[in-house]
Amino acid sequence: MKTFNGILYGGDYNPNQWPREIWDEDMRMFRDARINSATINVFSWAKIQPAEDQYNFSELDDMVDMLSRENYEIVLATSTGALPAWMAAKYPEVERTDYEGRHHKFGHRHNACPNSPVFQKYSAALAGKLAERYGSNPHVKCWHISNEYGGECYCENCARAFRVWLQKKYGTIEELNKAWNMEFWGHTIYDWDEIVLPNALGEGIGTEKTAFAGISIDYRRFNSDSMLANFVAERDAIRVYDKETPITTNLMGTYKGLDYFKWAREMDIVSWDNYPRYDTPWSHTAMCHDLMRGLKDAPFMLMEQTPSQQNWQPYNSLKRPGQMRAQSYQTLAHGADTIQFFQLRRSVGACEKFHGAVIEHVGTENTRVFREVKQLGEELEKLGGILPGSVNQAQVGVIFDWDNYWALEYTSGPSVDLTYVPHIHEYYRYFYDRNIAVNMIPVDADFSKYKLIVAPVLYMVKDGMAQALEAFVEKGGTLVLTYMSGIVGQSDNVHLGGYPGPLRRLAGVWVEEIDALAPEQFNQVVMDSGESCKCGLVCELMHLEGAESLGTYGDDFYKGMPAVTRNSFGKGHVYYVGTHMEEAGLDRILDKAAAEAEVESVVSGGEGLEIVCRKTKEGKKLYFVMNFGEQERTLPACLAGRKDLLTGEKAADTLKKYEVCIIEAEES
Ligand code: GLA
Ligand code: ZN
Repeated sequence: MKTFNGILYGGDYNPNQWPREIWDEDMRMFRDARINSATINVFSWAKIQPAEDQYNFSELDDMVDMLSRENYEIVLATSTGALPAWMAAKYPEVERTDYEGRHHKFGHRHNACPNSPVFQKYSAALAGKLAERYGSNPHVKCWHISNEYGGECYCENCARAFRVWLQKKYGTIEELNKAWNMEFWGHTIYDWDEIVLPNALGEGIGTEKTAFAGISIDYRRFNSDSMLANFVAERDAIRVYDKETPITTNLMGTYKGLDYFKWAREMDIVSWDNYPRYDTPWSHTAMCHDLMRGLKDAPFMLMEQTPSQQNWQPYNSLKRPGQMRAQSYQTLAHGADTIQFFQLRRSVGACEKFHGAVIEHVGTENTRVFREVKQLGEELEKLGGILPGSVNQAQVGVIFDWDNYWALEYTSGPSVDLTYVPHIHEYYRYFYDRNIAVNMIPVDADFSKYKLIVAPVLYMVKDGMAQALEAFVEKGGTLVLTYMSGIVGQSDNVHLGGYPGPLRRLAGVWVEEIDALAPEQFNQVVMDSGESCKCGLVCELMHLEGAESLGTYGDDFYKGMPAVTRNSFGKGHVYYVGTHMEEAGLDRILDKAAAEAEVESVVSGGEGLEIVCRKTKEGKKLYFVMNFGEQERTLPACLAGRKDLLTGEKAADTLKKYEVCIIEAEES
């Protein structure tokens, strides 16, 4: 498989939107900024296939020739993320039917019906033709299929395909009725054709909830599989002609609609688009990077970020001086081998004209943004020889599971505020604040690689999971479980016999009832140490079944009942956090769990700094030290006084906001 030369630095480039004189200007300015790569052909389907029986590659040939001549590494997209108008006019089936049941006309992008035979045929055909033409070009270093797969379709083609998918999964109607608990409200069906898609015309309640989670979760699985089949079809069409070039598609962090762990198995390398908002916590961005790295447990590509500003958020603040650089180093620290922008030249019209770019509308290099891009480019050139391929290691695994994400958020009760990602982030944040490296892991990960596994809101426990977690703890692992865990199986039917169902033995508690607290309501957890902290959202009323209590509720009729527990199981321990605690309280519990598991920070000291370590192929450790806080912070003693790879000089003793250094050490 081909690899990149150094750190790929570039991004989305659309010279087709510009006259030829501008192309020469681009080449000159990119060179100046140390850009070494361009992602092209992301949205050009209509141009390269102007009619059903006609292909025209002349402009794309010119782009590929120019970039090859200039020795750029090309990320070549297949263009199938936006449909050509002629196709929508001639074959209305290629457009989606939305959640409200409206069949769409031409417009927008990312809108093809994944189960349209016409779309399937022409998207794969296009990918094949591109590979036939450009696959042997040594400058083409990566295939970028479609763009940001997402959304869903509820058309008749999807309905037919869903029925086939269900027949394969369940075999018989009886099994399906049982899985979806169709006896409820007398929804029993007798024929596959009676299955109605779970949108607003079917079981949907509003856009986020459902009367029957079983069918709705299956529809999400099916929709994710359908789009994955589109990806695989294009990938396989490329592979007929090109066996050497890695193939990716750009993912979107914690995006809900697609089961990225499943997707990653089909991708050669993961890539993703990072668009934090002005108020996104840096810990959240770090978590997303760790998740994207976790998909394949391997370095990934940062396919897109803006050099300065977005256009599609409600408030599109500028990145402050140094912010883009610091954000880029955070990305590299967490496992990226590329830094790519959307986009290289700011577009002249349509909805992204206010989206930042390396070359702004003024058209010169005399801008703050360009200068910052160039500075970063110069630095990355120096790191190109050592960083790519280096790995991140962690003693802590945080479980992330898309089935669970869907199931938890579909539940009706006990609280509307039980969303998935914020709860994962709360637990992740504890480790981030202490510079304890985390791997984001799937439910079927090899748990034995970790000292501590954290499984926040593990509401859905599928077959085999409880046994795997038991085996991990038995051998000495530490596990942290929380409220709303172990409640349902893979079809959202309850594990009968008391919560947390299959985790009950492991946790050593029985949860009898779950109280929901409105945002203005609170209880207290009174810890054994005497300290107390606020809690809310849900309060689980637990009985000890072998576990010890670490804190009890302070108020209400369940005052004195355990709120947080610890159980010994085999050689290991299980913490069960039965309520949503405020940060300080949760930190005390996680302090105990982390100490018990003997997990360590990447380095000691360095409070207020983000410090992440990547280990190079030669076994050297690269410590990325970043300050995202307002206060100036001091480098930890073990890194102070050493050489900063970015400047070649001794690292400064302190870092101000957005300052970064990278320190190489054999061991610390
Ligand atoms: C996404 C898309 C790009 C562009 C950017 C703008 O990530 O993939 O085509 O629209 O958003 O932020
Ligand atoms: Zn459809």
